[in-house]
Amino acid sequence: MSTAISPTAYNYKVVRQFAIMTVVWGILGMGLGVFIASQLVWPELNFGLAWTSFGRLRPLHTNLVIFAFGGCALFATSYYVVQRTCQTRLISDSLAAFSFWGWQAVIVGAIVTLPLGYTTTKEYAELEWPLAILLAIVWVTYGLVFFGTIVKRKTKHIYVGNWFYGAFIVVTAMLHIVNHASLPVSFFKSYSAYAGATDAMIQWWYGHNAVGFFLTTGFLGMMYYFVPKQAERPIYSYRLSIVHFWALITLYIWAGPHHLHYTALPDWAQSLGMAMSIILLAPSWGGMINGMMTLSGAWHKLRTDPILRFLVVSLAFYGMSTFEGPMMAIKTVNSLSHYTDWTIGHVHAGALGWVAMISIGAIYHMIPKLFGRAQMHSIGLINTHFWLATIGTVLYIASMWVNGITQGLMWRAINDDGTLTYSFVEALQASHPGFIVRALGGAFFASGMLFMAYNVWRTVRASNPAEAKAAEQIAVVGAH
Ligand code: HEM
Ligand code: HEM
Repeated sequence: MSTAISPTAYNYKVVRQFAIMTVVWGILGMGLGVFIASQLVWPELNFGLAWTSFGRLRPLHTNLVIFAFGGCALFATSYYVVQRTCQTRLISDSLAAFSFWGWQAVIVGAIVTLPLGYTTTKEYAELEWPLAILLAIVWVTYGLVFFGTIVKRKTKHIYVGNWFYGAFIVVTAMLHIVNHASLPVSFFKSYSAYAGATDAMIQWWYGHNAVGFFLTTGFLGMMYYFVPKQAERPIYSYRLSIVHFWALITLYIWAGPHHLHYTALPDWAQSLGMAMSIILLAPSWGGMINGMMTLSGAWHKLRTDPILRFLVVSLAFYGMSTFEGPMMAIKTVNSLSHYTDWTIGHVHAGALGWVAMISIGAIYHMIPKLFGRAQMHSIGLINTHFWLATIGTVLYIASMWVNGITQGLMWRAINDDGTLTYSFVEALQASHPGFIVRALGGAFFASGMLFMAYNVWRTVRASNPAEAKAAEQIAVVGAH
């Protein structure tokens, strides 16, 4: 049965598809995270096979959690937010559908090629050139749908959440295209167009801004819509949100060299990256405070609303990781933290605490609305999920701090005669308990996603097509 396209209705189909796939990829990506964490505890789990080895599955984990899970959450929420805040349907249903299927195709391509060992070797940009080109085409389509919808908006101004989503889309395209410039030598192999320190600088300009624009700016777009909606309060300061936007995007782009301290990169570039990273604390915390203060007068809701709890705790972790990051960017601190598990802990404070938690909160907010239900099937299960996610994140990052500082101190310990006090293997042995705790924390977090899948499935199953269709009707102006 085909349904006629109504100009008075939102396109929720593509939002539903991306929202459901967020949960599916979340389970797979985090499940794989638990698996590779377990490989570090029990190396036998590498099974002696190349395609199940840690080295090949690790990039698959990062691709699945960042681009599949995080990416689908960003597509779903941005398509939802842009329609509701512009009071209009997406500019093209077919382009939106292409962005969904194209994105899934890129992910399936990653699942096939990465375990087989096809990789550019550039972190977070591993996909070989045919997939990278497909990704670029899908991304440009996404940009056309998003900005096209903004152009045909029925509202006068452009809500600040869309500014963040817009910057995330534009800058991600720029980073991807520049960093992927390469010379293909076969269908599965290409060489970077850049060489030496330039290659490293461009890669970490990309890498850091993948964090800054993919894992931060896009999710701040989410924050600016879903926190006020769930708290039923206007954003604390609209003026602060504009200052936050311009300060954040102006500063982030310069911070990449902090990934290359004490390398062949010119010293001035390293110091510039360090200085910019420290200044970055200000807009990051400005944004966090803007989100937190939105709860003024609504704090009591945290007692009864686990969705709001997900959103607020995500902001707390955002604040924590954006305090930790600038500290780690200071050269003397980085000389201890670099190469250690401290970095891994920092990554997951941001990835689990901020990115995953805000996405989960936003999906719980949207699912009933997308399917015409009053609320999720079980609020109790959301609460269980919240505690599993919070405890899991804390176990993960606390164990990595202990491991990271232990490793850093053991590696630099020197005897009176100038020889190393500890061998590398001794530092590895000292890390073993931390690896166990991290795997346990990860298992907590990933099992929470299973509760989410069940809860989403029950909510969707309880909805009927008429209810879902009614939910698509565009409300009167001012009611978004
Ligand atoms: C003001 C904000 C932030 C600053 C200044 C910052 C700074 C840093 C620094 C100095 C490192 C270590 C580089 C190294 O020693 O190799 C790092 C690594 C990393 N950070 Fe952040 N960070 C910030 C926020 C975040 C957030 C919010 C996230 C996640 C959502 C995040 C994700 C990462 C990732 C994925 C890496 C690892 C990169 C790699 O080596 O593969 N950061 N960050
Ligand atoms: C159940 C949850 C998760 C577990 C157990 C897990 C586990 C792991 C493990 C074991 C590593 C390799 C660490 C190493 O090489 O020493 C890793 C790397 C990484 N994970 Fe996760 N992860 C989880 C969720 C996530 C999520 C949700 C994201 C992003 C949204 C994420 C982003 C990353 C990144 C960016 C790296 C590479 C870090 C670097 O190179 O510095 N992870 N993860």
